[in-house]
Amino acid sequence: MYQKTLSIIKPDAVKKKAIGNIINIFETNGFTISDIKMLKLSMEEAREFYKEHAARPFFNGLCEFMCSGPIVAMCLEGEGAILKNREVMGATNPSEAEAGTIRKMYGDSIDNNAVHGSDSTESAERELNFFFSN
Ligand code: CMP
Repeated sequence: MYQKTLSIIKPDAVKKKAIGNIINIFETNGFTISDIKMLKLSMEEAREFYKEHAARPFFNGLCEFMCSGPIVAMCLEGEGAILKNREVMGATNPSEAEAGTIRKMYGDSIDNNAVHGSDSTESAERELNFFFSN
């Protein structure tokens, strides 16, 4: 199924100057990048974006981290894009991610894991609307 999904290059990967390499990985894996935006989230925006994790113990730290510097939000498109993006990213915890995945290459810990990707059709729609509603 042809799908759209949201990818975020997080502040840690931006600080590492990995934007270009990560975009290259998406393109060489066949994704079309159909929208892209660099921005800095406010705390209020980060809390809204990650609201499904509001009750988790890592929520405040996650939101502070996501506000700690600029991020790059992208719309990735392609056949089976949602699952394929999750495969290309690798496991949430970089120490469990397979070789060759973005999180293995650029993530340092579960908190600083380089990229975010939507995990379902519902979250992809909500998350793309969050960044690209206009
Ligand atoms: P992300 O895909 O952006 O979605 C939520 C983020 O919370 C996740 O990546 C991790 O960076 C972070 N996080 C920290 N601790 C955990 C945890 N125990 N389980 C899931 N995500 C966590």
